[in-house]
Amino acid sequence: MDKLVSLCKRKGFIFQSSGIYGGINGCWDFGPLGVELKRNLKDDWWYHFVQVRDDMVGLDASIIMHPQVWVASGHVEAFHDMLVDCKECKKRFREDHLEGDRCPDCGGELTEPRAFNSMLRTRLGVSDDTAVDTYLRPETCQSIFVDFKEIYSSSRVKIPFGIAQIGKSFRNEVNPRNFIFRSREFEQMEIEFFCREEDEEFWFERWQEDIWKWYVNLGIRESRLRWYEHPKESLAHYSKRTVDVEYEFPFGWGELQGLANRGTYDLTQHSRHSGKDLSFFDQEKNERFIPTVIEPSAGVDRTALAVLCDAYDEDEVNGEKRVVMRFHPKLAPIKAGVFPLVKKEGLAEIAEELERKLRRKFPTVYDHSGAIGRRYRRMDEIGTPFGICVDFETRENGTVTIRERDSMEQVRVPMEEVAEYIGKRISFDQD
Ligand code: GAP
Repeated sequence: MDKLVSLCKRKGFIFQSSGIYGGINGCWDFGPLGVELKRNLKDDWWYHFVQVRDDMVGLDASIIMHPQVWVASGHVEAFHDMLVDCKECKKRFREDHLEGDRCPDCGGELTEPRAFNSMLRTRLGVSDDTAVDTYLRPETCQSIFVDFKEIYSSSRVKIPFGIAQIGKSFRNEVNPRNFIFRSREFEQMEIEFFCREEDEEFWFERWQEDIWKWYVNLGIRESRLRWYEHPKESLAHYSKRTVDVEYEFPFGWGELQGLANRGTYDLTQHSRHSGKDLSFFDQEKNERFIPTVIEPSAGVDRTALAVLCDAYDEDEVNGEKRVVMRFHPKLAPIKAGVFPLVKKEGLAEIAEELERKLRRKFPTVYDHSGAIGRRYRRMDEIGTPFGICVDFETRENGTVTIRERDSMEQVRVPMEEVAEYIGKRISFDQD
């Protein structure tokens, strides 16, 4: 984990937020490479779960919502962590993260547990007497429930169908930890899938298959994935059943995504609290009902962390240690490095022009500094899947070599076919 965290900082994937001020606990910044990786993940998710399906639509709702939303959703009442304090060293812990009944740091006696609401409170309005307290959303899905009627009456959707959203969520986590695994500001990719109650098991299983397949198609090793079924007594306040997809991180197994059967809980609560009828009218059957909700809810940052952990590898090339990020090409931040074999004899100009053309299709870099082997190595370390070399033969017949990061094999390809050769291998549409 230390090696990965240091690579992420050194290469510009992820840094601590506000680092020059000493950082702020639980907040992270995605640098030039991190932002590309994250965008690729989100775009791939949107492609598979929204774009190619005819039973899904999207939403991009505001982060700040009416304070009543959080009363209706049950978060004001029930979104609590139970906290204990060490009477000796004064450190604070989540009770469910402790193994024994003493302080894990100094062995001191602990206080009785107290409830602490994990929502991040904020104040909206400019003057003290009119400003209202509300919260930064702790999950993106509540806007999907609140907007349910707007969406179904403005789009031509019929049950069963789902609404997807990607966006920021905030939780005042007591112990943000394990790099970006548990943070206070993070992104979620959530789907609320509305179906009839009698079909809930069918859809739960279908979503189980679909989300598992998505992780496998990201190139994550299946041996590092598993399901965890939540016991009935520890289900969230809204859930009838929850299973998590977990990944085996260097620090142990951790949740990537939860799949929950939320039943009719949320639509019923919002109907009751808002006084607006959020039932669905089935015109064919002439029937009105509150749909049941199956919810796949994934974390962008945790998926990015799993992809980074899974991609990290070290091997040896010509007796030298090589660090290589084996990202699936569709996720790699930079798709190709373009290098002239030598800077002179017109090769640099050809390579620069090729790189300019390619960057209109996908992210690329041009590099002419140092030995060619070093340049390949620099690209390996940030997971660039293809290295294109312009050499003397290029001047004669217009072909370049494309070196593949993992096998290190090279093929010769005419320059005008490079974009298509790489384009096929980085597309989301390969599964
Ligand atoms: N709407 C349901 C919901 O929010 P959750 O299990 O609390 O369910 C869903 O969160 C996903 O959001 C988790 O599986 C995880 O990937 C991500 N997530 C939750 N809390 C997080 C945190 N503090 N830091 C990073 N990701 C988090």
